[in-house]
Amino acid sequence: MRNFVNKKAQSLAPSGIRKFFDLAQGRDDVISLGVGEPDFITPWEIRNAGISAIKKGYTQYTSNKGLVELRREISKYLLQRFNAKYDKDDIIITLGASEAIDLVLRVVVEEGDQVLVPDPSYVSYKPCIELSGGEAVSVPCSGENGFKLTPEMLESVITEKTKAIIFPYPNNPTGGIMEREYIQKIIPVILKHDLLVIADEIYAELTYGEEHCSIASFSELAGRVVLISGFSKSFAMTGWRIGYVCAPSEITGAMLKVHQYTAICAPIFSQYAALEGLLCGAENGYSSVGEMKEEYDRRRRFMFNAFSRIGLSCFEPKGSFYIFPCVKSTGMTGEEFASRLLKEKGVAVVPGVAFGEFGRDYIRCSYAYSLDNLTKAVAKIEEFVKGLK
Ligand SMILES: Cc1ncc(COP(=O)(O)O)c(C=O)c1O
Repeated sequence: MRNFVNKKAQSLAPSGIRKFFDLAQGRDDVISLGVGEPDFITPWEIRNAGISAIKKGYTQYTSNKGLVELRREISKYLLQRFNAKYDKDDIIITLGASEAIDLVLRVVVEEGDQVLVPDPSYVSYKPCIELSGGEAVSVPCSGENGFKLTPEMLESVITEKTKAIIFPYPNNPTGGIMEREYIQKIIPVILKHDLLVIADEIYAELTYGEEHCSIASFSELAGRVVLISGFSKSFAMTGWRIGYVCAPSEITGAMLKVHQYTAICAPIFSQYAALEGLLCGAENGYSSVGEMKEEYDRRRRFMFNAFSRIGLSCFEPKGSFYIFPCVKSTGMTGEEFASRLLKEKGVAVVPGVAFGEFGRDYIRCSYAYSLDNLTKAVAKIEEFVKGLK
């Protein structure tokens, strides 16, 4: 029998995160710092809105774009929180930010187009670019400058085939952010090469110290920023599968066609639940988001101090809920370190290479775990590193 799987799907690499976690499966002695998912349950008012939507019998499709009330609230929220201006008609509610990433790349990328991806970055950009026939071009980022992009770094990889840049800040896995003055510096490069910016701002609410600066708030870039975000991280709603994408009208129109054929709409009760999250948040200053963020910040400081004590050099994360220590001083790659740590001490972390080849010397630890769990994991990591000397 012939192989029915097409070449693109055959050549797709499995997610480095999953691959590693399969190794930990079936071991109940493992402490995991692997999963990028809030350990909080969705705030009660949001859950309750979902339950009451079901009780009211809201079990049908919504319009393809999503509930107009929700799109209106997202439009207000983005303007109020991040000064990003998108009309409700230029917003599509998606099945998490994941669908939004796939949608925009499907309608923008043509065979042979290059898309810049800061490396290391979230795992789905590269495969989605490749499934659309494009080429993902890494922009090597390093801990020395906080994993930021600079104009020089961009110029060194841009060619006449470059069409877009993924702008994933606050960043998973590095915890890096791009502050206003750094974004300002790269705007001339974006304009000079006529690039589309695909901003994944799913961690926008989770920055520590410095407020998030949205690249969509710069008037010079009007008409060339696609903004992706969602409720999974800041509202602890991963299982509800709800996100959104905001784009210039012609891109929204094209995405809507793909979305209506492939997803139809996001689940209606998730849309009502998300709407409640925004309405309550607007009323009470996003207090539940703020409480979770405070707890992440406490854990972030704990983890940063711990890695400094252990002697693994580490950029102090400024956003998201990951810390990304460099393990080069141990003489191992991140992959070797993570495999041995799992085998010898029962602690699961993700090798940095899962997020791109420039993550090779790093490991990603999620601090979306209780302080108790983090304390146990860190003690084992310390024991492991001391044992190497
Ligand atoms: C940077 C980034 N974008 C998108 C996603 C996917 O989010 P969602 O659950 O909304 O699909 C993740 C999940 O880990 C992420 O880290």
